[in-house]
Amino acid sequence: RDKVTLLKLKQMHKKGDPITMITAHDFPSAHVADAAGMDVILVGDSLAMVALGMEDTSEVLLEEMLLHCRSVARATKAAFTIGDLPMGSYEIAPAQALETAIRFVKEGRMQGVKLEGGKEMVPTIQKITSVGIPVLGHVGLTPQRQNILGGFRVQGKTITSATKILDDALALQEAGCFALVVEAVPAEVAALITQKLSIPTIGIGAGNGCSGQVLVQVDMTGNFPPGRRIPKFVKQYGNVWAESLRAIEAYRDEVKSRQYPAPEHTYGIQKDQLEGFVE
Ligand code: KIV
Ligand code: NA
Repeated sequence: RDKVTLLKLKQMHKKGDPITMITAHDFPSAHVADAAGMDVILVGDSLAMVALGMEDTSEVLLEEMLLHCRSVARATKAAFTIGDLPMGSYEIAPAQALETAIRFVKEGRMQGVKLEGGKEMVPTIQKITSVGIPVLGHVGLTPQRQNILGGFRVQGKTITSATKILDDALALQEAGCFALVVEAVPAEVAALITQKLSIPTIGIGAGNGCSGQVLVQVDMTGNFPPGRRIPKFVKQYGNVWAESLRAIEAYRDEVKSRQYPAPEHTYGIQKDQLEGFVE
């Protein structure tokens, strides 16, 4: 399949063809996402939780993100790749953000970066895009700011809050974002924002009126132990954890019963060589 470029994403948006995006955090998860025909692969800072077992995304380090980006880049042949700027790596000044974005391109081998926030990020987005690095915005529920938002909560449920998201979205578009992630916003609000923008919106928990959708891969493939709480907006399309559990348990049982390895998994040696060896 052809490489997905920024131009191709623009053409898809123009035609009303939904943009498909998913997260990946390592070589195998990127490999399968690319093979499945995803348009965009995001190395989200959600990997803090789903791949590194951290409490929230604020804990993940820039160097850790870059390591994961590199492994994703190696597996991605066609999808457009975006790396998530982690908390602390871009908020202090546009120059800091640019330095970080360049590291995502040079060391992380990403094609673009994502950052969270509204109007206050305009100078930062202008700075990063001025050197030719595409920026994906992120409005609505911005998990890096969960403490001030009062947790993982739906945003834009009041006139004031919805208006602020719309104003932020317009400012981010004006600043040069090529698209915006809209997270955990009522469907009607996200649809209206989408209509008002000329760049695509990529929804997550934002209904069917967005220009595309994104999900966290381990959530949608069911690659997590039973009992983990997943957000209402996640559709679990598979049960990878149960399949891995079944396979590893079967292996355990076959080792214990000496059914594995069977002759077909075993190397032979010629008889005369063996006889000589035994003597
Ligand atoms: O970190 C992440 O995975 C994200 C997506 C859910 C948009 O930011
Ligand atoms: Na993120």
